[in-house]
Amino acid sequence: MEIYVVKDYKEMSKKAAKIIAEEMKRKKDLVLGLATGSTPEGTYAKLAKMCEKGKIDFSNVVTFNLDEYLGLEDEHEQSYHHFMDKHLFSKVNIKPKNTNVPAGCPKNIEKTCEKYDKKIESLGGIDLQLLGIGNNGHIGFNEPGDVFIPETHVAKLTEATLDANARLFKSKDEVPKESITMGMKSIMNAKKILLLASGSGKANAICMSLSGPITPWVPASILQLHNDLIVVIDEEAAQQILEQKKTMQRARVYKSY
Ligand code: PGA
Repeated sequence: MEIYVVKDYKEMSKKAAKIIAEEMKRKKDLVLGLATGSTPEGTYAKLAKMCEKGKIDFSNVVTFNLDEYLGLEDEHEQSYHHFMDKHLFSKVNIKPKNTNVPAGCPKNIEKTCEKYDKKIESLGGIDLQLLGIGNNGHIGFNEPGDVFIPETHVAKLTEATLDANARLFKSKDEVPKESITMGMKSIMNAKKILLLASGSGKANAICMSLSGPITPWVPASILQLHNDLIVVIDEEAAQQILEQKKTMQRARVYKSY
């Protein structure tokens, strides 16, 4: 595990975009796993700038998003389809047919989930998976529970997630209660994983995930088993993990602030 501790959100976004850009240069037809939420917004803005300047090229890149709210049409302002169009896809030269986001209103949920996993597999898996983390340690919408679910599946959102996401809706009642999310198998099969977190609100989740026991009750803790995990966190999000001496000895830690 490599942990980069940077000063703030801006530096986290810069570093993350640089890592993604390097992978895109290394492999033109990169299979890129993408996340939504406030965390990656700045990273997407940087990537859009780089693309505008001709420094990176999305023309052969294929993307797979982690999740979508169940019941939201693609056009809905809070859908992750809309988020991705707004923050990245409309700003770079990616081919729409190369972008994949789970359907929010699928005709057949089971088949849709199955097809999503098959499509990822058919391309040889994800090369680089970008992840944010929930306050409760979720990745994608893999919420805390009794088991790690391997396949793309329907997930019931926990109260913590409904509370956290209510800020984006008129009220908490409007937050969809379920989602379709990529499961742990496609995430863990990614050749490289880039986990981002910013702000003191994420300090506990980061510490529990990277330093605590591996348990489905802290879904991101499974990432400790990945052999190419890069973590980019800002000073505030790093507060607790930096105190975990054993983890810090095991990881390669780079501080730049
Ligand atoms: P956030 O969400 O980036 O909006 O904090 C992260 C997540 O819930 O995975």
